[in-house]
Amino acid sequence: MIIKPLTSATHDWVKHFTVNHWSADTVVAHGKVFSPHLLPGFVAILNNERIGLVTYHICDGSCEIITLDSLHHGIGVGTALIEAVKVEARQAGCQRLWLVTTNDNLDALGFYQKRGFMLVAVHRHAVEQARRVKPSIPLIGENGIPIRDEIELEMVLD
Ligand SMILES: CC(C)(COP(=O)(O)OP(=O)(O)OC[C@H]1O[C@@H](n2cnc3c(N)ncnc32)[C@H](O)[C@@H]1OP(=O)(O)O)[C@@H](O)C(=O)NCCC(=O)NCCS
Repeated sequence: MIIKPLTSATHDWVKHFTVNHWSADTVVAHGKVFSPHLLPGFVAILNNERIGLVTYHICDGSCEIITLDSLHHGIGVGTALIEAVKVEARQAGCQRLWLVTTNDNLDALGFYQKRGFMLVAVHRHAVEQARRVKPSIPLIGENGIPIRDEIELEMVLD
């Protein structure tokens, strides 16, 4: 597997990918609307096939992971993409790597904590607010759990 930075050549693919995986070409986190195809990020490639995507946003010494998706679970794609962002964030002088995920996403909560992220906050009803901006956010998410809250996780970079 190789990990490559996104370029203008991957722009349309990222947009299409986001529509397919996040129900529109934007994502909403903590009240902000992000367009992943306009963000920096990395793609994971195996046998000439794109099998994973991460996008991130750097602001005020913090690096936020905006989207992370693996199309081949359990072979290290998600881990490799996080590692690539971590290197980039450190190089950019960031002291914090962070993200929000939703309360239903038990797999992601486990995945991030096993990779050194700590839970820092629960933003109750944040997704209900986000749905006003992006009505296509489903009501029920992973594991049949209503999607309601945002959970913030962070890793301090040394
Ligand atoms: C969360 C998600 C990104 C994880 O991606 P993944 O590619 O399955 O992740 P990895 O393969 O790196 O790790 C998953 C498991 O595979 C195992 N694994 C196998 N080979 C591995 C390798 N070479 N390196 C690391 N882990 C490996 C690990 O043990 C890991 O299990 P653990 O979490 O219990 O330690 C993926 O489930 C996903 O796309 N979810 C849907 C979208 C989503 O929820 N995104 C996050 C919300 S922001």
